Amino acid sequence: EEAQRLAAFEARVGEGEFVEAKDWMPDHYRKTLVRQISQHAHSEIVGMLPEGNWVTRAPTLKRKAILMAKIQDEGGHGLYLYSAAETLGTSRDQMLEALHSGKAKYSSIFNYPTLNWADIGVIGWLVDGAAIMNQVPLCRCSYAPYARAMIRICREESFHQRQGYESLLVMMQKGTPEQKALVQDAVNRWWWPSLMMFGPHDKDSPNSEQSMRWGIKRISNDDLRQKFVDATIPQAEVLGVTVPDPDLKWNAEREHYDFGAIDWDEFWRVVGGDGPCNRERLATRVKAWDDGAWVREAALAHARKQATKAAA
Ligand code: ACO
Repeated sequence: EEAQRLAAFEARVGEGEFVEAKDWMPDHYRKTLVRQISQHAHSEIVGMLPEGNWVTRAPTLKRKAILMAKIQDEGGHGLYLYSAAETLGTSRDQMLEALHSGKAKYSSIFNYPTLNWADIGVIGWLVDGAAIMNQVPLCRCSYAPYARAMIRICREESFHQRQGYESLLVMMQKGTPEQKALVQDAVNRWWWPSLMMFGPHDKDSPNSEQSMRWGIKRISNDDLRQKFVDATIPQAEVLGVTVPDPDLKWNAEREHYDFGAIDWDEFWRVVGGDGPCNRERLATRVKAWDDGAWVREAALAHARKQATKAAA
């Protein structure tokens, strides 16, 4: 009977049908989704930190307002995603405990430092640009609560990407030579980590095959990375910056850019907890959680009071 259920499930998903929270699903499908959605949620939450570093130092009121709005959006994305993961039967407390104890993964990209103001523009352009490339196909993920959350997230991410690109364009077109140099410096540091966001090569990606078969992933890690490079290089040309890859060149036969080898040792080091900012990010997150304990307690006490009132 179990085998029959699985076959029916795979047939449904294979035809492009969506799965809802109350539908039967294989355990491994549920586990894979909790893993991916919770890692994604954690990435949104930890992703607020590198940018938060620049809120007090944004150069104008306009840039500060945009940056605060963007960081709030990311907090919101984290919350929709935790809610989507909760529909699979894992509590938010469990997911947060995994993050705070260092057990859960989150995107490698957020373990790099934001050293100059242009980093904020480059995060919008490259990091959010890579995130959109990876996330648009997730709007068609077979698990419907995740797919629905991704639609709104992608709309907001596209605003994030464009504000980043626009702020770099202003620096490159109207800036001083020093400001232009800041942009190039930021691109040099963020280019390779942005390519790493798409994950290991398909042949080294243990989860890809099953996730593609179940319609969780629609496009592979390497194909998304190639799409990102192809879309981004013309934008770099408009900006007037170069990417730090001597092997980058247009391949007329493939009609794609060829690009150099990624430093996978660096990638696995950062994923494994030993990147430039892993310890700092985790410590900041844990402190924020601890400092917020009184707010959560007050909110729970208030909710209990309201419930007793309603019952009386
Ligand atoms: N950073 C940290 N860990 C990573 C990264 C990365 N850039 N890429 C892959 N990994 C991890 C995977 O989570 C997996 O670990 P696990 O099996 O212990 O969970 C392992 O490396 C092997 O990778 P894959 O088999 O390729 O894993 P998967 O099929 O889950 O693909 C991917 C990875 C593409 C990141 C996928 O999970 C995904 O699309 N996630 C949703 C998008 C997302 O999380 N974006 C976050 C950054 S964008 C943002 O927040 C602005």
